[in-house]
This record gives sequence, C-alpha cells and structure tokens, in this order.
Amino acid sequence: MKHLLTLAFAVSILTASAQPLEQKFGADPLNIPTKREWQKRVRPAVMEFFQSEVYGKVPPTQPAVAFRIIGEGKAFDGKVLRREVEMTIGTSKALILIYLPANHKGKVPVFLGMNFKGNHQTSLDPEITISAHAPRGKELGTDPERGAAVSRWPVEMITEAGYGVVTLYRGDIDPDFDDGFQNGIHPHFYAEGQTKPYADEWGTIGAWAWSLSRVMDYLESDKDIDHKRVAVVGHSRLGKTSLWAGAQDKRFAIVISNDSGCGGAALSMRKYGETVAAINRNFPHWFCDNYNKYSNNEEALWIDQQGLIALIAPRPVYVASASLDDWADPEGEYLSALHASPVYELYGKKGLSSPTMPAINTPVGEGHIGYHLREGRHDINAYDWAQYIRFANRHFFGK
Ligand code: GCU
Repeated sequence: MKHLLTLAFAVSILTASAQPLEQKFGADPLNIPTKREWQKRVRPAVMEFFQSEVYGKVPPTQPAVAFRIIGEGKAFDGKVLRREVEMTIGTSKALILIYLPANHKGKVPVFLGMNFKGNHQTSLDPEITISAHAPRGKELGTDPERGAAVSRWPVEMITEAGYGVVTLYRGDIDPDFDDGFQNGIHPHFYAEGQTKPYADEWGTIGAWAWSLSRVMDYLESDKDIDHKRVAVVGHSRLGKTSLWAGAQDKRFAIVISNDSGCGGAALSMRKYGETVAAINRNFPHWFCDNYNKYSNNEEALWIDQQGLIALIAPRPVYVASASLDDWADPEGEYLSALHASPVYELYGKKGLSSPTMPAINTPVGEGHIGYHLREGRHDINAYDWAQYIRFANRHFFGK
C-alpha cells in the first residue's frame, strides 16, 4: 500500500504541470497533511502563483548592486547613532537610513521598513540627508517637510527598547505612479529590446520588495547589526511590500503587516472594501499584468491571500488592522492570518484559532501569528509599534 501511495505521488508530480491547480491540490491548497508535502510540493506552487499571477517575477537580468557608507553621526541628544548608506542599483541610487541605540553592546536587532515620503520625514533629526527623489515643499526651495512622518516612526521608543530602525524611501526604488516603468529600477532589468516588464514580471510592489532583500544583503555585512534578527515591517502599500518580501526571503526573521489591505493581508474573495478591480484600476503599476485577470473575477484566484501569509511559515508573522479602516477590510486581514494557521501547525507552531475577530485594542496570538485591531484610522503609530516590539521581544529573546 505504501508503495502504491508513493507511486501515485510520483505520478502526480510527473503529470502535475498538465493539471489545473485545483486538481493538483484540491479546493483548499492549505489543507495539507504533512510538512514535507507542503515544503516539497505545495509551497513551491503557491510561490509560483504569487510570482507569476500577483506581484510578478524578478527578471533574470540583474544589475550590479553596491553599498557605501556615506555618513555617520549622533542624533536624539546623543542617544542614537545615525548611519547613512548609499545603495546603488545599476545607475539608480537609494539612501538607507539606519538608527541604532548609541549605547548598544553587541549586534543590534532591527526593524526594517520602507517609508512613504523620504527618510528626512521619519524624524526631526536635522542631519538626515533629504531623499533626492522626495517631494519638496509646495514651492520650490521651501521646507522639505522634515519630520512630517514622526508619528509613524517612534525612533526613540524603538531604540530605547534595544532595536535599530532601518528605512529607505520607496520613491528611490520606484516612484509610485504609472509611467510605463521608465522611472525606477525596472529598466535596469530589461532584456535586450524589452521596454516594459512582461505580463508575469514584477510591478512596483515587486521592485520595492526586492530592494528590501538588497538592504538585507547590506545588513548581513554590517558588524553592528544582528542580521539573524531582522523584522521587516510596512504600512499599507508598504505592508503589502513587507509581506511579499518576507514571503520570498527567509532571512527576514519576523514579518509585519500594518493595515496592508487588498493585495496584502486581506482576503480578496470577500470583495469587501478595496477590490482587485479597484486596486488594478487605481494603481495599475503595483502588480504584474497577469493580476488584471482577477479584476471582478476573484473566484478565479487559485489561492487567496492566506497563501501569502502561509509562505512565511514557520517564521513569526504579525498582522495588524485599524478599526476605522474599512477600505483595508480588517476582518479579511484577520481571516487570512487565521486561515494560514494550518501551515504553521504543520511545523508544530501555534497560529490563530478563534474564528471571530478579537476586540479593539486586544492583541491576540501567543504563538507564531500575532494580530491586533487598533482603534482608529488607517495609519501606523506608537500603539502598533508597541505591539511589534512586544512580539519581537518574545520571539527574538523569549521575554
Ligand atoms: C490606498 C490604496 C490601498 C493602499 C493605501 C496606502 O488607499 O487603495 O491599497 O494600501 O492607499 O498605501 O496607504
């Protein structure tokens, strides 16, 4: 009997490419009996689906990437060490801003995440280099809005907890508008004669996520940083990005999604709040062209966004929502974390178990999946960060 099963399994692998995915894995691809089957058979198929149908693949032609420390200094009354690193991708340049507790002993665990409007908006530290591609004030030459996003980056709170903060501006990698992929890093990856990504190749979110992995390459070389304890984090479109980065790159030890919504943690098939059609219409550059197939056709998705979270297993993942953020579908975000739990269980890790949403401001998940519904609007703030620090403390240091 055992041999027969093995044979059937082998045959199913041989014929797999000819079968539609539903036949290969059944209606619920995450309903998998063994860890081995998940790792060998199902996970690669889920990854392939998200790569070729949702976020797009990274093209095979890759430009050279180099790093250079361009400056160092103290900030926050000397309590924090600032380091700025220039990352060169082909001919594009991006600036990585690193803050570490100045009194650190040994290697520092860090939170890595992209920012929306420029490194200089993340704190009032006047020495931060103004991001070259960032929007300036309304009139030329006016205040470039230093510190405008401080509420999203509580650097003192994070560094006092013993963590570093690493961030870069999304617009340095790919400016966030549809220009046919001429203005960011995409052209460095074109094959000869290619003028835009192919239908199964990456859009903007794919490029942002790829760049987070390049930052990780740098972090591995920085002697002050504990590269085994890097939590990748992002808010909203940058939360979609952190999930995709964490799904693909196992070096991210914790993955955090803050209000990532449609195309992030939220289940698309619920069609609640932002839909696939709306996101493809309003942000045609975010996903790969193939994703348009699912506009007003969510049922055709082979697997919903719980598959994205499952790709992160068994590493700890945290999903957060905000109570007034209907557009991002908080319940859909919770449910995808819940439905990814069976894959965590294959690894002997605890996911979420309650089918009902937790109450506002009541974080749940004492295992490897954390979740909270913060009171308030679509944003990332000190409350959210306090939960991420707590989650990282537990998983990184058992405290
Ligand atoms: C829009 C978009 C969302 C996105 C959000 C953000 O609301 O529809 O998908 O998450 O912007 O990035 O803030």
